[in-house]
Amino acid sequence: MMEERHMEVVPGLAGIAAAQSSISYIDGEKGILEYRGINIEELCEKSTFLEVSYLLLFDKLPTETEFTIFSDEIKYHTRLKQKLLRMMEFLPESGHPMDYLQATVSAMGMFYPARDTLNEQVRHDSVIKLIAKLPTIVAASYRLKHGDGPIAPNNDLSFAANFYYMLFEKEPDPEIERMLDVMLILHGDHTMNASTFSSRVVGSTLADPYTIVAAAIGTLSGPLHGGANERVITMLHEIGSKDKVEAYIDNKIKNKEKIMGIGHRIYKTKDPRADILQRFAHNLLEKKRGESKLLEVAEEVERVVRDRLSEKKIYPNVDFYSGIVFEATGISPSLFTPIFAMGRVSGWLAHWLEQLRTNRIFRPDQDYVGAHNQSYLPIKDRK
Ligand code: COA
Repeated sequence: MMEERHMEVVPGLAGIAAAQSSISYIDGEKGILEYRGINIEELCEKSTFLEVSYLLLFDKLPTETEFTIFSDEIKYHTRLKQKLLRMMEFLPESGHPMDYLQATVSAMGMFYPARDTLNEQVRHDSVIKLIAKLPTIVAASYRLKHGDGPIAPNNDLSFAANFYYMLFEKEPDPEIERMLDVMLILHGDHTMNASTFSSRVVGSTLADPYTIVAAAIGTLSGPLHGGANERVITMLHEIGSKDKVEAYIDNKIKNKEKIMGIGHRIYKTKDPRADILQRFAHNLLEKKRGESKLLEVAEEVERVVRDRLSEKKIYPNVDFYSGIVFEATGISPSLFTPIFAMGRVSGWLAHWLEQLRTNRIFRPDQDYVGAHNQSYLPIKDRK
């Protein structure tokens, strides 16, 4: 008999600190989120996505000169190489924009070699290129999927307005521009979530940043992570009206099915980002009187979940109200998760840079529960 050495396994690594980090902080009991110590509410009110990206990446708010250099660099790199665009044209229209995004970011690594991740200039250049080009890829993939040609960036516009312009060939109203910018801020970073962990794991092998971000995009695409926002809208449409919410939720609970956009590993109260987005949804929808049905359904879902599942401490997370805000501005559900990625890329890259500072390859252990000393049976003798 072989002596078995068993180890404690923590499913989902819940409660295990995978790294020391100074990028973002969550108080899950009080519902507080900070980036580099600054409250998310204040950042949403006073800052912009590019400034927040700088803060996440470089651990300080930029001076005016630093910010000008940073945002000029980003704007300079928003265009996509023709070869990348042509490669995207050959991808099937049935692909999800997240698939286009992942495939194109992977390919970027071939156009911009960045294997020397210990070289500071290589790291800086790839950070700039990734933040700059993700919106262009997302907008181009959406247009290609719908049989339209991609639109070149207009760098006279703000980062958020340019994204809208590349999607719809028109400039957004100032409130939609602000909403998009706030959406990117809200998704910038969120401690050791699955895609961030994935970027740190891949980064710890010293893989290049395009590979890292492609892996993180893949991780984000799952319905238990970033993919939940799209499914929330499907669920709200499926419910249809406020009076059908109780029966729908009770049925989900009876069948032990997860309600999308609800629950969080760290928050044991309502996600502060959900509060901000709910306010945005009200403001945007008040202006479009009579079109707030989805919001009414969502708020009823929140009420019924609070009523039925209060002992589980599950509340709306960021994905619960984001889809309603997007829908109110004409942005299609298939773009929700790619826009999440456009914001989170700054966090992924900040974690990558932090990981490299004290890098040790991630190589956890396992608790082996399989067999030993089995003999090899020739194929003809197997049943
Ligand atoms: N709907 C119904 N019940 C839920 C729930 C949901 N959305 N989220 C959690 N619960 C329940 C679980 O069934 C579990 O109940 P139990 O203790 O009776 O088994 C309890 O609440 C704890 O949840 P658990 O699944 O252990 O939490 P987790 O930390 O492993 O998972 C999520 C966190 C986010 C993956 C999970 O809440 C979820 O799947 N939510 C829906 C998807 C989503 O919105 N994802 C975006 C996250 S930002």
